[in-house]
Amino acid sequence: MSVREQPLVRFDPESQAFKQDPFPTLALLRESGPLIRTRMPIIGKIWLATTYDAVNDLLRDHHRFVQSPATAGNRLVGGIFRWLPRGLRPLTTNMLVRDEPDHRRLRSLVEQAFLRHSVETLRPRLEALADEALARMNEQATTQHGVDLVADFARPFPLAVICELLGLPPDDRPKFTRWAQGFTAATSLPAIIWGLRGLGKMMDYLRAEIERQSKRPRGGLLAALIQAEEAGDRLSEEELLAMVFLLLAAGHHTTLHQISVSVLTLLDHPQQLGELKADWSLSDSAAQELLRYVSFAQVTKPRYAREDTEFCGQSIRRGQILMGCLASANSDPAVFDNPDSLDIRRRPNRHLAFGTGIHVCLGAMLARVETAIALKGLFTRFPNLKLAVPRTQIRYTRRFGTRALVALPVTW
Ligand code: HEM
Repeated sequence: MSVREQPLVRFDPESQAFKQDPFPTLALLRESGPLIRTRMPIIGKIWLATTYDAVNDLLRDHHRFVQSPATAGNRLVGGIFRWLPRGLRPLTTNMLVRDEPDHRRLRSLVEQAFLRHSVETLRPRLEALADEALARMNEQATTQHGVDLVADFARPFPLAVICELLGLPPDDRPKFTRWAQGFTAATSLPAIIWGLRGLGKMMDYLRAEIERQSKRPRGGLLAALIQAEEAGDRLSEEELLAMVFLLLAAGHHTTLHQISVSVLTLLDHPQQLGELKADWSLSDSAAQELLRYVSFAQVTKPRYAREDTEFCGQSIRRGQILMGCLASANSDPAVFDNPDSLDIRRRPNRHLAFGTGIHVCLGAMLARVETAIALKGLFTRFPNLKLAVPRTQIRYTRRFGTRALVALPVTW
């Protein structure tokens, strides 16, 4: 097998230009090949799958491409994992960074709560939580000119949903926001290390809450997981903490940005928004299309090659990192007609915004329904909703790999 280094395809995944309009760059990436060698901030050199088929194949091949750097003999990343302070180790033991059989054992403990019928049963409660968040946003607007949709609606709504599912006290929600913000805004290694302090505080809080709920359960997923841990061999104490932390973080941080970028996208497409407002039976298909079009998670988490192997005609060495570019898969013209256009009636719409394979997003159904409910609630309550600042002032965060707005000032 040849060990010649492939030339790097260069692009800047942190640039404002890319975040504002990723489609031209994504097309160039696909033209460079289905699997390209490139460089990601913080991570360094990686292989990036760019086409729909390549991303699909990468994510479905969990035997060759694994989540755990140690399994693939990647000492560098494995070393960084070991270097983390003890209190933060749960960050490296959740289901998203585990391989089989541990991944399945962990996922099966919580899967039931996120299945389609469980989420459909929750729908009325989700609508009520969206209404409460919208009412609070309306109150905010009376005291100031306009509101920040990100902070005043898109964050509190999914946070309320996941806290309620887990059974975490409502009064503690503002703390999670504070602790998570430093980390999620970080774009450099020092800032990430600093942001880890906030995550450490969140871990301490969750440890204390687990202690409290093992004596006085509040009902919810956390109490059920504590029971599983106490029953013995299915979940260790550290895995319990890792699970709750993952669900809390993944359960709101993602949906919050998907909702706010979806609102901006609809305001940028007044005709599509008009059609949606005229027929809310389109809200589920609109949410699906916005998931594809926005692709909040632009890339997957890293995969590691378990062995020297060949993939998409390239020679991959054991331990090397591969990632799937979900955003370019979702705009691949081989699968989607006019992929750069928003079409709220698009069918079929087999997007990969939630990944695929064994690690496909656990909260996919919940996130879809939350997005649909958020859009309907927002635009029916405030039909004249518009930007409170010129469009050119709306900025995305620099953090690579996700499309998140810094703020979305709106008025009505
Ligand atoms: C629009 C919102 C969301 C998006 C775009 C999103 C995206 C994703 C993606 C792309 C993955 C797979 C990553 C990979 O393979 O490397 C994933 C995994 C995951 N997501 Fe989501 N997610 C969203 C909402 C949620 C919600 C609401 C939850 C609630 C619990 C959640 C929980 C998870 C979990 C637990 C995993 C790991 C699954 C596993 O390893 O088996 N996500 N998500």
